[in-house]
Amino acid sequence: MRFEAFSRRAAEQRSDCLVIGVFERGELGPEALAVDRALRGRLRAVLARGDFSGRTGETQLISELSGLKSARLLLVGLGKKAQFNRRLWRRSLTSAIHALARTRVVSAALALERPPGRELNDYYFGRATAELTGAALYRINDLKSARRPRPPALARILVGPIDSTVLGAVREGLAAGAALAESAQLLRNLGNLPANVCTPRYLAAQARELERTYRRRLRVRVFDLTGIRRLKMGCLLAVTRGSEEPPRFIVLEYRGARRGRAPLVLVGKGVTFDSGGISLKDPPAMDEMKFDMCGAATVLAAIDYAARRELKLNLVGLVPACENMPDGRAVKPGDIVTSASGQTVEVLNTDAEGRLILSDALNYARRYEPAAVIDFATLTGACVIALGSHFSGVMGNDDELARELVEAGTRTDDRAWQLPLTEDYAEQLRSNFADFANVAGRDGGAITAAAFLGKFTQGLKWAHMDIAGTAWTSGANKGATGRPLSLVGDFLSRRAGG
Ligand code: BES
Ligand code: MN
Ligand code: ZN
Repeated sequence: MRFEAFSRRAAEQRSDCLVIGVFERGELGPEALAVDRALRGRLRAVLARGDFSGRTGETQLISELSGLKSARLLLVGLGKKAQFNRRLWRRSLTSAIHALARTRVVSAALALERPPGRELNDYYFGRATAELTGAALYRINDLKSARRPRPPALARILVGPIDSTVLGAVREGLAAGAALAESAQLLRNLGNLPANVCTPRYLAAQARELERTYRRRLRVRVFDLTGIRRLKMGCLLAVTRGSEEPPRFIVLEYRGARRGRAPLVLVGKGVTFDSGGISLKDPPAMDEMKFDMCGAATVLAAIDYAARRELKLNLVGLVPACENMPDGRAVKPGDIVTSASGQTVEVLNTDAEGRLILSDALNYARRYEPAAVIDFATLTGACVIALGSHFSGVMGNDDELARELVEAGTRTDDRAWQLPLTEDYAEQLRSNFADFANVAGRDGGAITAAAFLGKFTQGLKWAHMDIAGTAWTSGANKGATGRPLSLVGDFLSRRAGG
């Protein structure tokens, strides 16, 4: 997909289809008014027939119009003018792309009303436009045997009219958004693949693939079972014990800045299937535990994005990957294991496996003397209870870092909310038999999980993102969402200095 910005009036822009917004009750913004003038009043005449209500997301394609430089005109409902905001703009834009994807339109000129408010400045307007277009055109990498329907013809998106003084900022945003859309596709594809395809070895192969693509700046190392034993990652080894599928510990090192500069380390939970282990989960929706590697996929996609944009920072990705399965050899409730940090853990519930594998990876992060460490994990059902599917949870030991992430989420509409992680919560992990336990009862479950991770990040600037509620959707639209890549991409861009 190519994205371009234009400055001339929409009616003057050449394309296969011009897309304009129409508010409810036929209210027209400046571009729509100019289009109506170019059409000598025929837009108003069409609206006067009353077939098009202008409700958010409603679309109507008009093919036989002369007076425009575009062959077709697509009307998109923007809802009530007084209520128009960023959220409704995002919905309208998505509907417009869906409508275009059903046609043979190759190039489309988007001239929707821009959402009001200072927050969505020119850069973020361009970024969101490209990103939303990519997301709307995403097709699930299903394994259906029937022949695939013809893919959409859409290949060129023109955005305007953009004041010539801000063309640069919009173009920058479009470029960032286009890259994000590509990386999000990688993330979503990995998430959607079933666990019998997307195994720890498959994730490692994907990392190798990235290494081939970005050979100049990216180095990948993969530890197998023997290597993981040598690293003394007793927690990762405990989780993988019950599975026939071999584990991997994947290390990606991206160099975009001078050698001495402290890297950011991103850690991603890579449980390719979480049955719960001996503390077996209930059957309903257990299939969704194939998404339990979305943290890992976020890290791979973030590295892909940084490398694609050649961001000027050093970045390390760490992915502990394994399955969590019940078996005669599986770790049992009450077993005590020794983590790579030397601390002992009483595994009271084998379904709290994410924090176990993350703890060994977080400890591994120390060797980089990182500027900051951020982990991404579909870690707790409790976080879904607390925040639903709208906000990711942010916790950590550095409020400045947490704030940076939350603000990145606000700018990108990939929202996150900080939960309090104070010492009180760590006390709930007390054990009579080991340094601490891996669970602490139901109360504050999202936070006690983070408190467990906090045992392994002392002295590091660390933040944890619980994406259990945001990484995928259930129900009829089951599938990976691509979150929180948009947030992470913005955080990385800023850290790289724009
Ligand atoms: N992967 C799950 C968390 C999860 C559950 C994410 C449902 C999304 C939907 C994680 O490994 C897990 O099982 N967590 C347990 C922790 C509990 C045993 C303390 C949970 O949340 O129930
Ligand atoms: Mn679990
Ligand atoms: Zn899990």
